[in-house]
Amino acid sequence: MPVITNIEDLKRIYQRRVPRMFYDYAESGSWTEQTFRDNCSDFDLIRLRQRVAVDMSGRSTASQMIGQDVAMPVALAPVGLTGMQHADGEIKAAKAAEAFGVPFTLSTMSINSIEDVAEATSKPFWFQLYTMKDEDYVSRLIQRAKDAKCSALVITLDLQILGQRHKDLKNGLSAPPKLTPRTIANLATKWRWGIGMLGAKRRHFGNIVGHVKGVSDTSQLNAWTTEQFDPTLDWGKIEKLMDQWGGKVIFKGIMDAEDAKMAAKLGADAIVVSNHGGRQLDGALSTIRMLPAIMDAVGGQTEVFLDSGIRSGQDVLKALALGAQGTMIGRAFVYGLGAQGQQGVSTALEVIQKELDTTMALCGERKVTALGRHNLLVPEDFGGRWQD
Ligand code: GLV
Repeated sequence: MPVITNIEDLKRIYQRRVPRMFYDYAESGSWTEQTFRDNCSDFDLIRLRQRVAVDMSGRSTASQMIGQDVAMPVALAPVGLTGMQHADGEIKAAKAAEAFGVPFTLSTMSINSIEDVAEATSKPFWFQLYTMKDEDYVSRLIQRAKDAKCSALVITLDLQILGQRHKDLKNGLSAPPKLTPRTIANLATKWRWGIGMLGAKRRHFGNIVGHVKGVSDTSQLNAWTTEQFDPTLDWGKIEKLMDQWGGKVIFKGIMDAEDAKMAAKLGADAIVVSNHGGRQLDGALSTIRMLPAIMDAVGGQTEVFLDSGIRSGQDVLKALALGAQGTMIGRAFVYGLGAQGQQGVSTALEVIQKELDTTMALCGERKVTALGRHNLLVPEDFGGRWQD
């Protein structure tokens, strides 16, 4: 068994085990991938303030996200096609999250359905919603999430149209993969993945296939988003969705102070400062750079979470110290899942928690909830001098 000491170790195994098409899907940003890269490298610009001679006993990473107790403020983000990274991927990731004590978010574009995950878990999970032109379908989807007792609706606001990721087009990304000479040659080297998939509960988009009409190819994310996603989504429609849902709501994809204020005004329980992992607007700022302005705009009025670029507990700590109440990880758990299934997701969470705990201690803090700006050394020009 390889010794896993960080998320990068999981990524190396993940890359070997998962078909190229799905590795590329996870590991891409849109167009030039500038934002995708900045999301990670901007975390490195912030340094930590080391403190000594502080009693480090009795430490805790426990906190709350939207009023729910969490073992650490790190939720699993919604990731499309998770069940193609590993057989029954959403079920496995949800079980690992439940055992660890952090929220799991099921994507609309998942392979396992809402019902599959509800059946396999015992605590409520969060459901991420994409809004479609077919309002009837959206209403049924919301009702299905209610029936499954999901404890929050995560409405993604930054994907009315899909940002272009070159590799997905070149690879002909689909679920399940279409068998071409190229995919067959690659799949032949991924026997472990293939054996798992033969026994998988599903190999299609579980929330979609059998539930929608009018899509030319339900196996293709591209066809589905182009033909079905609602380009007219606006704040008025969002309010209607909130009414339909009637429970806790998290708005994901906020990258602007004005949008954050609007979200808070509508009564969002939380917003996620997110640029979709650099997969949508290439050229947007990294989320960690954007966070301080958003905290200034809405801190205290709604909870603020951050995703995009988190690969370590140090990254989590930096986001929390800049004011976020919570964070979300996408790729960091997908690497674990593709590498080692449910155990790999647990390992990813353990790695991040250990890093968070040790970093917190060496910064002189015992509780994750006490972290603040005083723990950081932030370059003077970190916010950047941008003219709009
Ligand atoms: C969809 O959620 C994607 O980023 O591919």
